[in-house]
Amino acid sequence: MNIFLTGATGLVGGELLVTLSQRKEVNKIYCLIRSKSEAEATQRLEKVFALHNDHFDREKIVPVLGNLFDDNLTNSLIENTTISDTDVIIHSAANTSFSRVNDDLVEKANIGGLTKILLWAKQLPHLQTFVYIGTATICGKDVKDRIVTEDESPNLNATHLVKYTYTKMRGEIIIREHLPEDKILITRPSIIMGDSRPIIPRSPVILWAMATINHLRLIPVNEHAQLDMIPVNYAAEAIVNLLFANRKYHVYHISAGEAGSTTALKLSKTLESYFDDMPPFNFINKSLLNQVKHWTKGKLQPESELYTYRQYLDYWKETFEDKSKLRLLFTGLDPYLEFMELGHVFDNSRLLEDTGMANSEPADVYMNNSMNFVEKIDILEGAIDP
Ligand SMILES: NC(=O)c1ccc[n+]([C@@H]2O[C@H](COP(=O)([O-])OP(=O)(O)OC[C@H]3O[C@@H](n4cnc5c(N)ncnc54)[C@H](OP(=O)(O)O)[C@@H]3O)[C@@H](O)[C@H]2O)c1
Repeated sequence: MNIFLTGATGLVGGELLVTLSQRKEVNKIYCLIRSKSEAEATQRLEKVFALHNDHFDREKIVPVLGNLFDDNLTNSLIENTTISDTDVIIHSAANTSFSRVNDDLVEKANIGGLTKILLWAKQLPHLQTFVYIGTATICGKDVKDRIVTEDESPNLNATHLVKYTYTKMRGEIIIREHLPEDKILITRPSIIMGDSRPIIPRSPVILWAMATINHLRLIPVNEHAQLDMIPVNYAAEAIVNLLFANRKYHVYHISAGEAGSTTALKLSKTLESYFDDMPPFNFINKSLLNQVKHWTKGKLQPESELYTYRQYLDYWKETFEDKSKLRLLFTGLDPYLEFMELGHVFDNSRLLEDTGMANSEPADVYMNNSMNFVEKIDILEGAIDP
């Protein structure tokens, strides 16, 4: 089997690349990489394997220079005869930014870029499967505090917290416009955070939010809302297992489900037991986030409820000195808090049934392996582009 993989330098794509490279059924993995030269692209791929000392097989892993933003991408893929024997495409590349300033880039990468790959895919002579790495959060913000099934999405009436989830929802619709259903495998991971093994996680994405929450300790979010989170190694294993499985469906949640989900409260206990020299966690109503923002601007009204938590305000002053740093952290954290409040649990029975996999361990359990990494995250650096 020859696979064309996009996003191989990212969190999910990197883990997929390493996992796929270890499968005997896989002959070649062509990786779309944005680099100036083949040498630089090879170096980037080498780094993906070097992170956990995995074997980099130069024969098997083939870089293909390309950028989703390039107007000529489809043609350059068509003209590249080396990759015309592709059997499977795994499209993991995306712009995952939650920040409004990146909305145009998000749309260009996730809708425009996907379309260019599809235009190449549909004329491939041997294409068996187009695997799309979507996201379970396309169900939108109207769905709250319940188990969500695969069949509920894509829903054109869903309202989205960020442009990113909207583009991922549109992506699923566009794929169906270009390819027949029997060639489509849509995987929808929930929230991917860290790695369940005692190794350095591939990326600080989402872990940044956890590290920031750990530093702040007074958090405007419902601590009992369910959080469906999985480690990246579970996500990659599930996607690869599905690729080789006898599938009954063409859409699957890659998620923790009811048994493997966690809550902010449970995660806070894991954090408290490791970082025991900070104030205990205190969760307050989300509506107080505005008061926090006003306080960081020195504009909070004297009788405001937030002053009930004066010891935390003193702790923040002492820890962060400059209130503008806090403002930056809370602005970056804002969309994460919104997602945390939704209480989504994504039904994973299709995945478990068709792959025979067990549930993922809850994040409050597996994160015990990554606490030393959480400690090293520079939260201010991460807040600039959360
Ligand atoms: N992380 C999560 O919690 C999560 C949850 C659910 C679903 N997903 C989905 O999983 C997929 C991968 O996400 P991730 O977390 O691995 O993201 P990531 O770490 O940010 O990686 C994104 C990848 O896409 C590539 N890419 C971005 N823009 C590109 C462009 N213009 N041209 C070519 N390549 C480009 C990046 O290449 P460079 O290295 O060159 O930037 C990188 O390899 C996405 O489709 C996302 O929607 C992620």
